Amino acid sequence: MLSSLVVATIFLLTRLTNAWGTLGHETIAWIAQSYVSSTTKASVQSILSSTASDYMANVSTWADSYRYTSGGGWSAPLHYIDAKDNPPESCSVDYNRDCGEAGCSVSAIVNYTSILLDEKSKSSTKLDAMRFVIHFVGDLHQPLHDEALDVGGNTISVTYDGEKTNLHHIWDTEIVEQLADGQDAEGFAKNLTTAIQAGDYGWDAGSWLDGVSLNETQTTAMAWASEANAFVCADVLAAGVDAVEEGDLSGTYYKAHYDVARIQIARAGYRLGAWLNLIYTGQTSG
Ligand SMILES: *[C@@H]1O[C@H](CO)[C@@H](O)[C@H](O)[C@H]1NC(C)=O
Ligand SMILES: *[C@@H]1O[C@H](CO)[C@@H](O)[C@H](O)[C@H]1NC(C)=O
Ligand SMILES: *[C@@H]1O[C@H](CO)[C@@H](O)[C@H](O)[C@H]1NC(C)=O
Ligand SMILES: *[C@@H]1O[C@H](CO)[C@@H](O)[C@H](O)[C@H]1NC(C)=O
Ligand SMILES: [Zn+2]
Repeated sequence: MLSSLVVATIFLLTRLTNAWGTLGHETIAWIAQSYVSSTTKASVQSILSSTASDYMANVSTWADSYRYTSGGGWSAPLHYIDAKDNPPESCSVDYNRDCGEAGCSVSAIVNYTSILLDEKSKSSTKLDAMRFVIHFVGDLHQPLHDEALDVGGNTISVTYDGEKTNLHHIWDTEIVEQLADGQDAEGFAKNLTTAIQAGDYGWDAGSWLDGVSLNETQTTAMAWASEANAFVCADVLAAGVDAVEEGDLSGTYYKAHYDVARIQIARAGYRLGAWLNLIYTGQTSG
């Protein structure tokens, strides 16, 4: 009885709180792993003290565990930027308006990138910085991590495949799992990497790096946040809050919007690889 209560509580907490679920974050990390140069790979592996084949995927959800530790609560606001816009009528992200005093995903990417670039950073600081960058570049690409409305959709009740959950959760997890169709993170990443290389779905990956620069880390991260936030108006809440509270979203809603989850995971992985290449080689590709 007690243990089932504990299990149920942990389950509930996990459901309320995960950003892109494990599958999303690990897929992003595996995609990035296929785009890092050998120099970048060696630097990342050295910081993570790992030569495992899944060296990045293995730490991609660390930040979601850390935020719930007694010493890690300060990092919770770094998983999102709370765009105080008005979807579906108008979407926008404004750094001064939306990045709170405790920081946000954009300030975190700026800070942890500069820590990685600074030769004087301690190795323990670099380890956390690397795990944060791998995670937050992912979070930034989930549209509801760039939205303040209804706690990023966490308080919007929805039904998915017969289960009661919330809008934020299905964008983190259920839509991604339905899209992966049983593939694990490594397999799903191979699938998306093939699509990126082939230019499937009208993707033009080269353009995903337009304007990307370590000289302007905040501008770069803000551009990624604005692009993701625009999907809140165009797709996630296009028909308004009431519309998603009705029916089962695993059918028509999934079919209408899964391409957003697919391109955002692909972009996040591709950009994360390029970002790490910039940090360790000065160039986006190996
Ligand atoms: C990361 O790798 C370690 C060592 O193999 C393993 O114990 C741990 O479960 C892995 N964690 C994740 C999230 O994959
Ligand atoms: C940058 O990160 C370090 C290490 O987590 C933290 O101590 C510092 O307060 C952060 N600075 C900013 C401006 O976010
Ligand atoms: C990629 O995954 C989709 C399911 O999301 C599947 O239909 C497609 O055949 C897969 N493609 C490859 C090349 O594995
Ligand atoms: C970044 O700054 C360096 C040094 O000032 C400059 O050489 C380089 O062209 C800049 N890169 C971009 C993409 O702005
Ligand atoms: Zn997160």
